[in-house]
Amino acid sequence: MSHTATDNRGIDDTVTSHRATNPAGTNRTIFSGIQPTGRLTLGNYLGALGRFVDLQHAARCVFCVVDLHALTVEHDPRRLHQLTRETATIYLAAGLDPAVCVLTRQSDVSAHTELMYLLESTAYVGELNRMIQFKEKGRGRPRTRVSLYTYPVLMAADILLYGGTEVPVGDDQRQHVELARDLAIRFNREYGRTFVVPEMSPATVGARVMDLQNPTAKMSKDAPADSLGSIRLLDPPEVIVRKVSRAVTDTSPDVGYDPENRPGVSNLLEILAGCTGESDPAALAGKYDGYAALKRDTADAVVGVLEPLQNRYAELAADPAHVDATLRLGAERARELAAPTLAAARTAIGL
Ligand code: TYM
Repeated sequence: MSHTATDNRGIDDTVTSHRATNPAGTNRTIFSGIQPTGRLTLGNYLGALGRFVDLQHAARCVFCVVDLHALTVEHDPRRLHQLTRETATIYLAAGLDPAVCVLTRQSDVSAHTELMYLLESTAYVGELNRMIQFKEKGRGRPRTRVSLYTYPVLMAADILLYGGTEVPVGDDQRQHVELARDLAIRFNREYGRTFVVPEMSPATVGARVMDLQNPTAKMSKDAPADSLGSIRLLDPPEVIVRKVSRAVTDTSPDVGYDPENRPGVSNLLEILAGCTGESDPAALAGKYDGYAALKRDTADAVVGVLEPLQNRYAELAADPAHVDATLRLGAERARELAAPTLAAARTAIGL
């Protein structure tokens, strides 16, 4: 049943209060998250984390370690706990400033799961059946966790809870952000304007960093620990150099940017561009007449980006109580930010 705008007094106030309390003085609110399912990779950095750092001064930002999402696949509780803290420490080491943005852990803010249920009651089975990630990782397997199926709805709740206008993510999250948009629009249409409709904000370079050994697959934190294809953010410099120097390219003697037909070399150019702030990986190709120099420069550029992060990580990891305290404080702020939207959604849907 549709309601008119006058049925929703207070709800529009919630939508606008996100703006009124935005310390950056803009209408932008940015939300994004990373799952602590493995050790973070260069893909996570170029597609997401590095951009969080750049964006934090431009808008109100909430960045979350989305630990509930890590329960969707087989997991070891102790490892999950360690990876959650490691991911939060990497957020800080990369340069996210808890005085500027809200850094939080998803499971500390119960509003995420509460809103998820309201959105599960808005989403259709048909649209979840179309989710590529579920099709690839879980469909047809009897021991697939139910939470893997409903995971995109939790992700929508994550975003909508904070009135996220922009969601900086890598290319692989496009379908999930689309679902968040569809659910926001549907809920608003059915029950009155409650949610801000978010936009995906893809990286211009490095939106899909590929595996160095298998450049037709994305670089993933789920890769085996000894994989030469994934550069981990905490890999020592010599390991990074080794991984880049062994990257698969092709038999063509020249260096050229053609992601479709030459994925290996194009991926190196993309990484080089992403790590040097170049906006056009194709333009970099002309500077090289062989792979050796390209690999050397790419490795140097990656080390140049990751070494400062790793030094800072070593300092922060020595004081885990500080990281835990930062997350506790972040959770308090996140709960305050989330409460009005959750309350408005509950009222709108008839609770
Ligand atoms: P996750 O944890 O798989 O990845 C975290 C972020 O890193 C990006 N990314 C990549 N970007 C470029 N190249 C790659 N090879 C690469 N691999 C990963 C992802 O696109 C993502 O931005 N469902 C999300 C986590 C999530 C979330 C959210 C994100 C949960 N709730 C709300 C945004 C908003 C995920 O699995 O990301």
